[in-house]
Amino acid sequence: MVGVVGLGYVGLTTAFSLAYLGYRVVGMDVDGSKVRLLRDGKLPFFEPYMDEMFSLVEERVSFATRYEEAIPEADVVFITVGTPQGTGGAPMLDQVKGAAEGIGRNLKQDFVVVVNKSTVPVGSGNYVEALVRRAYAEVHGGNPDGRFVVASNPEFLREGQALRDSLYPDRIVVGADDVRAIEILRVLYQPILEQDFIPPPFLPRPEKMGGVPFVTADLASAEMIKYAANAFLALKISFINELAGLAEKVGADIRIIARGIGLDARIGPRFLQAGLGWGGSCFPKDTAALLAMGKEYGVNLEIISAAREVNFRQ
Ligand SMILES: NC(=O)c1ccc[n+]([C@@H]2O[C@H](COP(=O)([O-])OP(=O)(O)OC[C@H]3O[C@@H](n4cnc5c(N)ncnc54)[C@H](O)[C@@H]3O)[C@@H](O)[C@H]2O)c1
Repeated sequence: MVGVVGLGYVGLTTAFSLAYLGYRVVGMDVDGSKVRLLRDGKLPFFEPYMDEMFSLVEERVSFATRYEEAIPEADVVFITVGTPQGTGGAPMLDQVKGAAEGIGRNLKQDFVVVVNKSTVPVGSGNYVEALVRRAYAEVHGGNPDGRFVVASNPEFLREGQALRDSLYPDRIVVGADDVRAIEILRVLYQPILEQDFIPPPFLPRPEKMGGVPFVTADLASAEMIKYAANAFLALKISFINELAGLAEKVGADIRIIARGIGLDARIGPRFLQAGLGWGGSCFPKDTAALLAMGKEYGVNLEIISAAREVNFRQ
């Protein structure tokens, strides 16, 4: 059984995708109104193909508002709660803390992999581990040594493409300092890695799609990959926008320039549309988090600061 704690975009997409692959999934959220909607077969937000997917998986997915209904059954528990930006740029981890404590209090008897899918600063895996450990000890006494391992499995989905990105990802990243966790997640994701599941009729497999690379890492590297990916994409957008300003002055066409450079395989055509700033909430939030992390460790991330300035001038 797979547990998913936090049923927002990431949690619900994870729950439905894993259920589609054949796993039994219990999704848990502290928001009772959200859970009530889901139990009635309704979605709390719109996302393409989620309704169709819900109909396909409803027999394998259940929903809960309490940790004790969800966690003791689960062999793998995903944390998919929100990590909104706090003052100073670093994300607020109170939802992560709540989830980790709820999991710790209800840890099952056998081995459990606690997988952090929320976007969190480096070191959060260790923080989650400490919280699970302490919550377990408070309820059960003793320590839960050997009973659980924390892994990081950053999410790269885009809203509007969530199910497609989840079933047909460019890569799956898993980080843990314990090889058992990595192996359990490799097996869990096997159908996606091998792409040997039958695609849902409404979301055919992209043409020429092969196997999906499985990137294994230590905990810290996996946590940093998510921030590095978003910072790089944000940088690409800021780069083309900065050049657009010069192109306009010299009478050049930035769209043709973008095409001319984007066809270089080392650069690639995506994220080179000038004119638009960074959309969505992830790039501002994740670059702010990266800068806050740099500040904490005394590392000045000048390129990322500049990319943010260019964007906010836009
Ligand atoms: N939305 C995206 O496009 C996207 C993409 C990649 C990564 N992420 C990251 O994934 C994480 C989740 O994002 P989201 O957009 O799904 O968030 P969201 O805000 O849509 O959903 C979070 C859910 O967690 C629930 N929750 C809060 N505290 C809880 C607790 N203690 N126990 C159980 N449930 C709890 C909330 O009620 C809410 O339903 C964030 O870290 C985000 O940065 C988001």
